[in-house]
Amino acid sequence: MDKYVVFGNPISHSKSPLIHGLLAEQTDQKIEYTYIEADVNGFTKAVLEFRKNGGKGCNVTSPFKDEAYNLADHKTEGALLAEAANTLIFNDDGTISAETTDGAGFLLDLKNNNAPLTNKRILLIGAGGAARGVIKPLLDTKPELLSICNRTVSKAEQLAQRFTEFGNINAVSAADLEKLTQPYDLIINSTSASLHGELPPVPVNIFNKCEFVYDMAYSNEPTIFINWAKEQGVKQAIDGLGMLVGQAAESFEIWRNVKTNIPPILDAVRKTL
Ligand code: ATR
Repeated sequence: MDKYVVFGNPISHSKSPLIHGLLAEQTDQKIEYTYIEADVNGFTKAVLEFRKNGGKGCNVTSPFKDEAYNLADHKTEGALLAEAANTLIFNDDGTISAETTDGAGFLLDLKNNNAPLTNKRILLIGAGGAARGVIKPLLDTKPELLSICNRTVSKAEQLAQRFTEFGNINAVSAADLEKLTQPYDLIINSTSASLHGELPPVPVNIFNKCEFVYDMAYSNEPTIFINWAKEQGVKQAIDGLGMLVGQAAESFEIWRNVKTNIPPILDAVRKTL
């Protein structure tokens, strides 16, 4: 049976083994998928050992996405732009390929939920690894504008600069947002603030006339950011569980060369929260 794992630290609460088990069942693929908690200083060793033991590929999550990227011999355009990888493929010739499926998984979830994208105004809050992975896929949908706002403004400015050749992108401060005249259609929270029960420092007027809010965090209850948006009258506000399932499905399709159907998997995973 072909073996796959997800590496992370901590990792024991990961939903990936469950999701990949469901994907395998749905597509009639015989695979084994578990998790490995690598030592924070022992990621590369753990990956190479897993490959030696017959592993075919792996997913990689925090804090190893940068190391996974550096370890690979071949990198896709998406991985190069994100400078991170969440999917490694062990090739028959002994090389390792790196891909990031976070952006594609995110876009799939946005499209499945009919989020406003093309010709729309998008505000992305946060400028960390999660933001970096979705900027190019978002710009590929040709929004009118993609603005990045971050607690540390310089990081938003660096990202806007870095992706400027791919579309209309700028960095905005919280003070700029307070003076906002044209509303955003889609607001995405990519910060880890929700995981700590905190709101990112953005003014409440950003929700004026906003149609759709996405929080990349998820839990068994609506996140603090989703509740805040709904209180301001935003009609559609969804969490990041669909993105998690989407990125898993993208990885699975790469490894197994089969098509998957996400909605039933998402329903099943939601029930386990
Ligand atoms: P990830 O890979 O999850 O994006 P990261 O690279 O550490 O993790 O980035 C975390 C992001 O969440 C950053 O944009 C961070 O803002 P700073 O760049 O100013 O640190 C943001 N963040 C985390 N906690 C936050 C909080 N309580 N309020 C606002 N922003 C927060």
